[in-house]
This record gives sequence, C-alpha cells and structure tokens, in this order.
Amino acid sequence: MTLPTTKPKQSLKPGERVLFGVFGAFLVLAVIGYIVLETVRSHMKEPMFTSRNSFDATVEGLRGSKLFREANCTACHRAMRNGTNNGIVLDGIGSRRNLEWIENFLRRPELTYGTPTMDHAPGKEAGYTITLPSADIHDIAVFLSELKAEQGSSMAREPPPESSGFIDSMVKLWAPQGWKDKYQDIRTKPPGQDGRTTEKAPPP
Ligand code: HEC
Repeated sequence: MTLPTTKPKQSLKPGERVLFGVFGAFLVLAVIGYIVLETVRSHMKEPMFTSRNSFDATVEGLRGSKLFREANCTACHRAMRNGTNNGIVLDGIGSRRNLEWIENFLRRPELTYGTPTMDHAPGKEAGYTITLPSADIHDIAVFLSELKAEQGSSMAREPPPESSGFIDSMVKLWAPQGWKDKYQDIRTKPPGQDGRTTEKAPPP
C-alpha cells in the first residue's frame, strides 16, 4: 500500500486569518477576564453577589419542593435553581402571593386569575395540575409560599432602595402623563398595601 503523497501546505486566506484572529482575540480576552474575575472574587471578604431569594423550609414545604420537581412543574417553572424559564419564574412568589392564593390557583387556575390562562387551563399542557392529589397540591402550595424575595432581588415586588437620579429624570421626561396618573410609584407607597400580597382568593 502506498501512502498518500503529502499535499503542499495551503496557507490561510486573508479572510480566514481575520476570522481566526478575531476569534483568538476573544478567546484570550475571555480567559484573561475569567482569571481576573476569579482572582478578585477569591480575595473578597463578602460574597460578590448576595442572593436575596430564600426558602424557609418546613416539613410540608420540603415535601412540596420534592413534589414540585416530580410533578414536572420544573418543565416550565424555575424555583431554587431547579427548572426552566419557559413559564413564570416562581422564586420569591411567596413575597407576592399568599398561600391561600397559590393553593386556589393550583386548584382553579382560571377562576383565580380571572382570565383564561395559557398553560394551566384543563386540557392544556399544565392542566394536569388540578388533578394532583389534594394533599400534594397543598404541600406544593406551601413550598411556593415559602419562596421569599427580599427587596432588591429581581424577583421582589419592591425595587432596590437606592434611587437613580438619571433614571428618575428620564422617567419624568419621557413617561406619558397618562402613566403618571394611572400608576403609583411604589417607592413612595409601602408595598403590601395595594392588596396584592393579601389578595382575596375566590370563594371555594
Ligand atoms: C407547560 C408549562 C407549565 C407547566 C408544566 C406548569 N406551569 Fe405553572 N404556569 C405556566 C404558565 C405559562 C403560567 C402563567 C399562567 C398561564 O397563562 O398559564 C403559570 C402560572 C403558574 C402559577 C401562578 C404564578 C403567578 O404568580 O401568577 C403558579 C403558582 C404555577 N404556575 C405553579 C405550577 C405548578 C405547581 C406546576 C406543577 C404542578 C406548574 N405550574 C406546571 C406554565 C406551566
């Protein structure tokens, strides 16, 4: 058997050189950035990012968190680093909705929402939720109600306490007058007083 004769080495075309050059530069920058970030982070006394989402685990809540994964809620929802962002992220839901509301939603989604739902109506993809055993629905609801988000978390109702003069002036300049009459700046009104977290659930 004869070995294939070696072809003359082809040099890169100018376009290829630019492409590989740009790619290489990005790769080098990414590696340098990663090394710098990790070095800074490992020398910090405080954590770089504080998590403002939490879960006060009770026995029911822990059982609910297991059921939440087993019942495939994580196919659409994310909570405590499990699941996807297809549906609403449920981290911090316990700071926006109370246990009664959540449990009612799981049993009668559209009646509780007051509007048709995309996925939770009977016959839709998440329609099976209402058919889960009653005790399981309760424990899942307990789990969700224990997911809290502190002010400043992206899942919290309240914006971070700091205010930005720049953003305030932009809102003042660009927001239509109609919005200013219609919406209340929740920083000037303590949260939880507009009834949303104490929202009345529909009668059983
Ligand atoms: C196929 C995707 C899907 C699956 C599976 C699913 N959900 Fe949902 N969920 C949604 C969507 C989308 C919404 C928003 C309401 C709507 O339009 O259906 C929602 C809304 C909710 C809400 C109300 C959130 C709020 O604050 O308004 C809760 C609570 C909830 N889901 C819990 C669950 C639980 C518990 C399970 C598992 C038993 C589950 N979901 C399974 C897609 C899904």
